[in-house]
Amino acid sequence: MSTQHKTSHFLFFTLLAVCTFSFIACTHQNSDDAQMNAFIDKLMAEMTLEEKIGQLNLPVGGDIVTGGVHSSLSMEDIRNGKVGGLFNLKGAQAIRDVQRIAVEQSRLGIPLLFGMDVIHGYETIFPLPLALSCSWDLQAIERSAQIAAREATADGICWTFSPMVDVCHDGRWGRISEGSGEDPYLGSRIAEAMVRGYQGASLADKQTMMACVKHFALYGAVEAGREYNNVYPDDFHAFNEYMQPYKAAVDAGAGSVMAAFNTVHGIPSSGNRWLLTDLLRDQWKFNGFVVSDYTGVQHLGDNGVSASHEQSNIQCIEAGLDMLMVGEDLDQLVAAVNEGRCSKLSIDNACRRILEAKYKLGLFDDPYRYCDTTLREQVILCDDHRAEARRIAGECMVLLKNDNNLLPLQKKGTIALIGPLADARNNMAGTWAVAAVTDKYKTVKEGMEDALRGTGARLLYAKGSNLMYDASQEAIATIFGHSIRDDRSVETMRQEALNIARQADVIVAVMGEASEMSGECASRVNIEMPDAQHDMLARLAQLGKPIVLVHFAGRPTVMNWESEHLPAILESWFGGSECADAIADVLFGDVNPSGKLSVQLPRHVGQYPFSYRAMRTSRPNEGGDFAKYSSCYADVSSKPLYPFGYGLSYTTFAYSDFYLTDTVMPLNGSVDVHVTVTNTGNRAGAEIVQLYIADRVAKGVRPYKELRGFERVELAAGESREVVFTLDADRMGYYEPYNLTWTMESGDVDVMVGANSAETEKRLLHVQ
Ligand code: BGC
Repeated sequence: MSTQHKTSHFLFFTLLAVCTFSFIACTHQNSDDAQMNAFIDKLMAEMTLEEKIGQLNLPVGGDIVTGGVHSSLSMEDIRNGKVGGLFNLKGAQAIRDVQRIAVEQSRLGIPLLFGMDVIHGYETIFPLPLALSCSWDLQAIERSAQIAAREATADGICWTFSPMVDVCHDGRWGRISEGSGEDPYLGSRIAEAMVRGYQGASLADKQTMMACVKHFALYGAVEAGREYNNVYPDDFHAFNEYMQPYKAAVDAGAGSVMAAFNTVHGIPSSGNRWLLTDLLRDQWKFNGFVVSDYTGVQHLGDNGVSASHEQSNIQCIEAGLDMLMVGEDLDQLVAAVNEGRCSKLSIDNACRRILEAKYKLGLFDDPYRYCDTTLREQVILCDDHRAEARRIAGECMVLLKNDNNLLPLQKKGTIALIGPLADARNNMAGTWAVAAVTDKYKTVKEGMEDALRGTGARLLYAKGSNLMYDASQEAIATIFGHSIRDDRSVETMRQEALNIARQADVIVAVMGEASEMSGECASRVNIEMPDAQHDMLARLAQLGKPIVLVHFAGRPTVMNWESEHLPAILESWFGGSECADAIADVLFGDVNPSGKLSVQLPRHVGQYPFSYRAMRTSRPNEGGDFAKYSSCYADVSSKPLYPFGYGLSYTTFAYSDFYLTDTVMPLNGSVDVHVTVTNTGNRAGAEIVQLYIADRVAKGVRPYKELRGFERVELAAGESREVVFTLDADRMGYYEPYNLTWTMESGDVDVMVGANSAETEKRLLHVQ
């Protein structure tokens, strides 16, 4: 048989196999859906209107209260079928006990859904999402979500309020810590990876849980970075900068979506029909359920678009909201439906979607399937999970500066460890770690002690300063009882630190933000190193000894002084339960840092909102310095201090052989972009190769540079690898003005490859 024949036979059979498989999968899916629909039809036929409305009710079951209102959870309501689910209740036994009331004591025995904010791990805590995104390692991110799901489902939870995919261009906003940074392309890939990690191949698997994409939509654009503020991107900007990660998560099959606190087009998201129905369901074909955020429905009153709880409830449900998190006066909906103020169909639709979620999670087969109390021992915080968390935490740290290869440190001599965060156990997990067991996590001091044990190196420790001088500000920074305040005088603490520093060969300063300085309702206008820590650092710098700053933060920090005066800076963010060991791994070179910034670091807070993806302006200013009548500032460069995509390694990488397979690409074709990366140093390391494009002329304004591909490559010393990206119209497209369809126009495009957004080489591609 000729090669050509063999190929066509092969293609024919492959095609046949694919079609048969898709047909079987599709038929199977249809029959599953038909069974589910029949089951739910039958159940709903037996439900009273009160019971249907009960399914829409999601009171809080645990202690985490993020609004002023604490829902009045009563077991009586559960018995009466007035509750659809509970959230933030921890523990398989506690959940089993409550589930029993729903299943055994309510009229129809409908099981409850148990949700939780499992944001970056359950008890094994992974780095904060912002940190995680700096790994650019989709497999690691998926794995972190998978482990989170394993632990949470072993403890009764089947639904997580994650991933948070809000793109953010403003470091003042505390919740930038919960997302994947400033870029919609990177954010979309991470959103998909997280959904895959949580939900696995099937929600019917007991070790997977349902994801909830939040906060839909545009929450990351809160004006002035102020929490719960309004957002104003126009549609063009909204779709091109913010919407893509939500859509990516929906396309990846996320089972639920959470409506944001903010308004969109002047209407609160929870009650926004355009957002929840026209866009999400009709255009994006989302078929899961939508939950409000905490008391989100009542906020229609705060926003002044509703005069009563009844009006808010009706508006939201009719807009396409299915479940009310900490809602109020749901009982009133019975009369509203009976008297024609609320459509029965909207209630039926919402109830059905929640029952569908319970069905998909297998709760009707076995309501206790996530409540196996014997699993905790084997699964939660097990050695494997902790080892993975440690490995992943090491990948997330970003080495910002390393003059004269100060890092890695040798395990010898005397090291002075200084800073209020160096021995602060309850600070390690970072914000939004609801299930954390902080007493089981090591401090940085303990991690370093373990790493140095038996080496003969001496580790001296002094706290050096409080977080900040002002005690009331420090109380806000440690608001959830994580106080680490020291009563000693500034001078006593300072002298103690200077004293050990004088004896040391090298100083490691562990400083920055406490965990509650980022996260919800932690907006700040001062995003520099807090005063007391800055002053301590400045005194240490005067000693003239080598200093490494290990910087804790949940947001981008302005670090001009640090960058000018300190030889080495490691951005460790909040690395989770295992970060003490992970920091020691990186400091002593057992792990070579490879993280790259998913959010650029500004020179001044006044630069916000700020992103490398800045749209082209009139009168552009390329260099960033002042030039009259160009887009710039008179008093500070408009460039970042450290650009998006930036991060150093203990080795070096060189890029070569960068070419496109063609300089012309038809709109319906593709070109490959080749580049070779070589590890030119003398130790193994990982490089994150980045691909950017700039569409020179388009109908709508496009950014100067936008990420459209990346690959993390691990290379032994001296090793080279060719990386190939495929570009086509879909990969290069954007939402065009007015009709907001995803389009690629013909014309010239700069294709750029490099180690970060500011250091790229380019080739020209003509699209026609
Ligand atoms: C937050 C959500 C969170 C919810 C439940 C709200 O305040 O905005 O992100 O999922 O509380 O804890």
